[in-house]
Amino acid sequence: MKFPVYTGPLLVALAYCHPVVGANTTDTPPTLQLSTTSEFNFQFLIALTDATTGGADIAPVLGAAKDIKAGDMASFAHQFYKLANATKAQAEDPSNAFGPINVRDTWFSAAQYFRRADFYGHRNWSNPLINKLWEEQTAAFNKGLAALSSPGKRVQIPAKEGNFTIEAIWYSAPDSDDRKLPTLIIGNGFDAAQEDSYHQFVAPALARGWNCITYEGPGQPTVRRNQNIGFIPQWEKVVTPVVDWVFSEKADVVDANSLVLIGNSFGGYLAARAAAFEPRISATVLLGGVWDAYAAFSSQFPSEIIGLYEAGNHTAFDRLIHQLRDNGKLPVTAAWGVDQGLWSFYTHSPSDFLTLSKGFRLKEVVDKMSAPVFVGDAEFENFFQGQPQLVKDALGDKGTLHRFNGVAGYHCQTGAGQELMRTMFAWINKTLNQ
Ligand SMILES: *[C@@H]1O[C@H](CO)[C@@H](O)[C@H](O)[C@H]1NC(C)=O
Ligand SMILES: *[C@@H]1O[C@H](CO)[C@@H](O)[C@H](O)[C@H]1NC(C)=O
Ligand SMILES: *[C@@H]1O[C@H](CO)[C@@H](O)[C@H](O)[C@H]1NC(C)=O
Ligand SMILES: *[C@@H]1O[C@H](CO)[C@@H](O)[C@H](O)[C@H]1NC(C)=O
Ligand SMILES: *[C@@H]1O[C@H](CO)[C@@H](O)[C@H](O)[C@H]1NC(C)=O
Ligand SMILES: *[C@@H]1O[C@H](CO)[C@@H](O)[C@H](O)[C@H]1NC(C)=O
Repeated sequence: MKFPVYTGPLLVALAYCHPVVGANTTDTPPTLQLSTTSEFNFQFLIALTDATTGGADIAPVLGAAKDIKAGDMASFAHQFYKLANATKAQAEDPSNAFGPINVRDTWFSAAQYFRRADFYGHRNWSNPLINKLWEEQTAAFNKGLAALSSPGKRVQIPAKEGNFTIEAIWYSAPDSDDRKLPTLIIGNGFDAAQEDSYHQFVAPALARGWNCITYEGPGQPTVRRNQNIGFIPQWEKVVTPVVDWVFSEKADVVDANSLVLIGNSFGGYLAARAAAFEPRISATVLLGGVWDAYAAFSSQFPSEIIGLYEAGNHTAFDRLIHQLRDNGKLPVTAAWGVDQGLWSFYTHSPSDFLTLSKGFRLKEVVDKMSAPVFVGDAEFENFFQGQPQLVKDALGDKGTLHRFNGVAGYHCQTGAGQELMRTMFAWINKTLNQ
């Protein structure tokens, strides 16, 4: 091998959702680790977090975690598939079908375990599990949705510019009596599904009397699978039709002065971009701030490797990345980052992926953002490290930078949903009441 660096953690990540040490450069993570593979630890934390909103049970997740071999993505997928199957069997057992809460919790948990089982499975695009696990998670989630006191409703919204359909789920605030209420529009980033958003944002928002709509666009789980379209930088083509739909279909229950757009993870770029073109948004919440995707992605490679790409030697760069991946030389976070990056940007070429990512920069449009913006930063952010500050600087007085520290300092505040929600809703309340 020409490059001597692969044995160490130098090629730390092509990852947008993992917790290794970043802005805080100590090697001590702020929580007890459930795996020596930090990426797995982060996935366990996601599953455990969702237990607080009825999307998992704790001991079953820890039981799966116990049997997963460190560093082994197939083992991770297998154990969660097993747990998902077992939970589905409990949901289908007629002796458990007592009332909507039994139904809702068990199916939402099964759905979550199917999503975890899918997480590392996007390397081989022909793998039939990519669709099979998603059909399972969708069917399970739909049973949970239908059992909510105010059932969530799936909607398909055709894009007006571009040949794709947005997949969304509308949730009415419970007991709203047809009053006009504040409404969240929630979008994820590089990997998470709108079903994840139910547990992260929707359940806490419904409890506070908000309506919600979650959505997925190109590159995101359902649109990537069913319509074969990768990420596009012009995210207004996704969000504006969602806002149009809200005002045409839900005008009677939506307070037009309290429409808040949330972008999670890489969605921190996507939502910011859309907000620049959408004057009907009252406020925007970015968790966290993303200024320049290429700067973040490219900085994850050792200089010898990214040097090949930057010198224009794309053939050699692609060959090298594929070789490292095929020979099992990449640590889990980097291996997953390559697999997910190629799949979600719809290309088989790592250099193509990097070139496409250059379109995702806020600089050209940030001046057009007019509503107030909350910019989240995280102490242990390693991926978009430093970028929330750049977003805040460009926004000036329109931006509020908030750094989540310590145990709330993982990417997307994973594991600290209460701190995230109370901080976010307090800011929203203050901002909308000004
Ligand atoms: C970094 O994180 C460690 C572990 O959570 C903590 O003890 C330390 O105070 C942090 N350092 C800084 C500079 O924030
Ligand atoms: C889960 O159940 C399906 C049948 O629906 C089966 O094909 C699959 O092998 C099971 N997975 C595991 C890990 O048990
Ligand atoms: C990808 O999956 C398909 C379907 O299971 C299989 O036929 C093919 O051999 C796999 N490709 C690789 C490179 O493993
Ligand atoms: C739009 O996409 C559909 C399905 O992917 C395809 O059949 C159709 O030809 C496309 N239309 C245009 C105008 O590209
Ligand atoms: C590209 O890189 C490879 C591997 O380092 C090298 O053998 C080849 O000569 C380079 N090609 C160009 C056009 O620089
Ligand atoms: C903000 O909080 C105040 C006081 O609790 C409440 O009356 C008001 O309805 C809240 N506004 C929004 C937009 O949530």
